[in-house]
Amino acid sequence: MKEKIKELLKELFGDGGTLYASSGRINLIGEHTDYNGGFVFPGAIDKCIQAKIKENGTDTVRVYSIDIDSYVEFGLREEDAPSEQWARYIFGVCREIIKRGGVVKGFDAIFAGNIPLGAGLSSSAALESCFAFALNDMFNDNKIDKFELARIGQSTEHNYCGVNCGIMDQFASVFGMKDCLMRLDCRSMEFEYFPFKADGYKLVLVDSVVKHELVDSPYNKRRESCERVAKVLGIETLRDAEMDDLNRIKDQISEEDYMRAEYVIGEKERVLAVCAALEKGDYETVGRKMYETHAGMSKLYEVSCEELDYLNDIAKECGVTGSRIMGGGFGGCTINLVKNELYDSFIATAKEKFAAKYGHEPKIYDVIISDGARKIEK
Ligand code: GLA
Repeated sequence: MKEKIKELLKELFGDGGTLYASSGRINLIGEHTDYNGGFVFPGAIDKCIQAKIKENGTDTVRVYSIDIDSYVEFGLREEDAPSEQWARYIFGVCREIIKRGGVVKGFDAIFAGNIPLGAGLSSSAALESCFAFALNDMFNDNKIDKFELARIGQSTEHNYCGVNCGIMDQFASVFGMKDCLMRLDCRSMEFEYFPFKADGYKLVLVDSVVKHELVDSPYNKRRESCERVAKVLGIETLRDAEMDDLNRIKDQISEEDYMRAEYVIGEKERVLAVCAALEKGDYETVGRKMYETHAGMSKLYEVSCEELDYLNDIAKECGVTGSRIMGGGFGGCTINLVKNELYDSFIATAKEKFAAKYGHEPKIYDVIISDGARKIEK
């Protein structure tokens, strides 16, 4: 990927430029908790976006996406917004830096990636984080702090891509560290690195290859449900709600909003239980909580789909320790905590059964926890 990017940059835009990267993410547990002020537990992975970028001395940005085979030029003013979705991620990052008083000058860039699109691995956050990190390095002497870089990506989603996402994906992509998961408190934004070495287990993603589309999607509706319930309770976010509180206002909210909030309140507790279990090396509890999350996401939050529920059932039948839908939902992957000795038979069974039912095999990605946003070379 690196060689191809370098070659093409030279061919299209001449010598020079710096190579940057940022990663996709997994999340062990804590789904749809970030915008509710709760906890998340993500880590960056070894699949990333790489971009080679150089200043071009104009007011124009010129970018070529190798994977989409698409070239776009745009200016840096609000009215210059490109119509191509992929380019809006980059345009949004430029605009959000400028809005915060930062500097962005015209540049040329080529980028490519190996994060499967629409699999719930946050390829868009990786793209945002890669450019936010790069433009901070190139034009702002790295004065924008890392949390602000994550927020720049998040605001890009809100203001240019129509997704009212939380902070988890961009946080993971910017802060990711090799071999570590991170527990982030999305209310205080305090976080801790957790070395993750589940001896005797593997983390593996099983991708249903059902595409999810968060733009204009039920994702924003889920968030609105949570906000409605918090408002009735008179609190800022559901982080401060317990089941008793929810039951107290049950007749003031819709049945659907009740279910959404019930899931979020349960999920908040599950993240903490998983952290405590991990510290004791108690992977059985970790796994049980993952299954509980899946059930909640499927039955209460209703962000699963038939294919993902089927993958979850297969995992259970195979004796996999923990399995659940990962990310925003509506397609994508399950994340599975599997004992080493069960790994081969689980993968074989999942492929076979899924293909028999849906006509194609799921894709399998072993999780390797890696570094987040970084400069690769000058
Ligand atoms: C998407 C969003 C995140 C988070 C997850 C669900 O990935 O971008 O902010 O809400 O869904 O946990």
